[in-house]
Amino acid sequence: MNILLIGNGGREHALAWSIADSPLTSRLVITPGNPGMEAHGEMRSIAADDLDGLCALAIDISADLVVIGPEAPLVEGLADRLLKLDIATFGPRATAAMLEGSKEFARAFCARHNIPQPVFFPVSDYESACQHIDQLDGYCVIKADGLAAGKGVVVADDCRTAKAAAKSMLNGQFGNAGKRLLIEQRISGPEASLFALLDGKNAILMATAQDHKRAYDNDQGPNTGGMGAISPSPLLNEALEHQVMEQIVKPVVQGMASEGHPYHGVLYVGLMLTSDGPQVIEFNCRFGDPEAQAILPRLKTDIVSAMLATTSASLHHFDMRWDQRFAVTVVMANKGYPRSYEKGSIIRDLEAAEQDTDCYVFQAGTERAENGDLIAVGGRVLALTALGHDIASARKKAYEGISRVEWGNGYYRNDIART
Ligand code: GLY
Repeated sequence: MNILLIGNGGREHALAWSIADSPLTSRLVITPGNPGMEAHGEMRSIAADDLDGLCALAIDISADLVVIGPEAPLVEGLADRLLKLDIATFGPRATAAMLEGSKEFARAFCARHNIPQPVFFPVSDYESACQHIDQLDGYCVIKADGLAAGKGVVVADDCRTAKAAAKSMLNGQFGNAGKRLLIEQRISGPEASLFALLDGKNAILMATAQDHKRAYDNDQGPNTGGMGAISPSPLLNEALEHQVMEQIVKPVVQGMASEGHPYHGVLYVGLMLTSDGPQVIEFNCRFGDPEAQAILPRLKTDIVSAMLATTSASLHHFDMRWDQRFAVTVVMANKGYPRSYEKGSIIRDLEAAEQDTDCYVFQAGTERAENGDLIAVGGRVLALTALGHDIASARKKAYEGISRVEWGNGYYRNDIART
């Protein structure tokens, strides 16, 4: 099969690595990609927001399957356009991707289908925002409705912080994404993520993971896209997985179908495990990053077969097999991320980092300089994943790999997966 993969992050590097390994893949074209993905397919330079260019490329290579990595083109309707061209597409249509594209849509949907979630109030003006913030004594979460590159959420302890966040978002901090907000009651408990495949009618559990969102050790500092991950999540046992599938994922697949927006693709369920049971923090319509880098090395089933079962509504016949070991992923970021950072520092010795068996380096914000050097140009730059029979051994191997990377400007947390 000819497969087109769209995206350029560590998540897409992990996807490229898995797709290239499939016996069903005869040709893999990746756009815009990163240097780490060169080993897995043919590279193109069409950006992920150039929907015309991506459709033309899919036609040009006679794509049998297109895999859309990031959320923005899904929310913009890339899957709809490809499906109109009769090209099988892994990723939901725009109306289904609204589960991530509009937090208000997702909350209202959950309310209609009795999916457990915190109390929420949609607002579009500062006065109403203040009224609900006061009602919750400032102990609340302020969320921009639309996509804000993972930055549109403020967790507040007091009215002053909450109101300042609401004001800044309503005043255009995230452009149109913050024209509407959600003010949510804060709930407490540990967080975990569950990934499921949905084929429009059926849903199957894929895997679970845990992200480390804060920039610094001990969960300090600003929020990031994710500084590390563990899969499976040690917090989600089989009973909890079953509960999440029954109370959240199945109502999503059935509810989206009954409302005329069947969901095809991976559903990322961000959960808080409260004393009243798991509640939805958020949905995402794509794999997590860096969760994908932890999950995919554990996948034993052919990923392309799983994607085809998803696009052809035949997941009810599908069985996914997993390596029972733990995967620990540690992200190396440019010093300064998620704030400003230097671009262009040289990275060496990635081969040495992968010298242990079951140790993988996935690239994200890298580029090849004119002289061939690998340089860091993005915030999150590398993700190193190691597998082990327990979290401690996977963690040890991941940090040994990290210590072999020669990159002066690299920064990583020291406490990923510390138990
Ligand atoms: N790691 C969080 C996300 O992918 O949204």
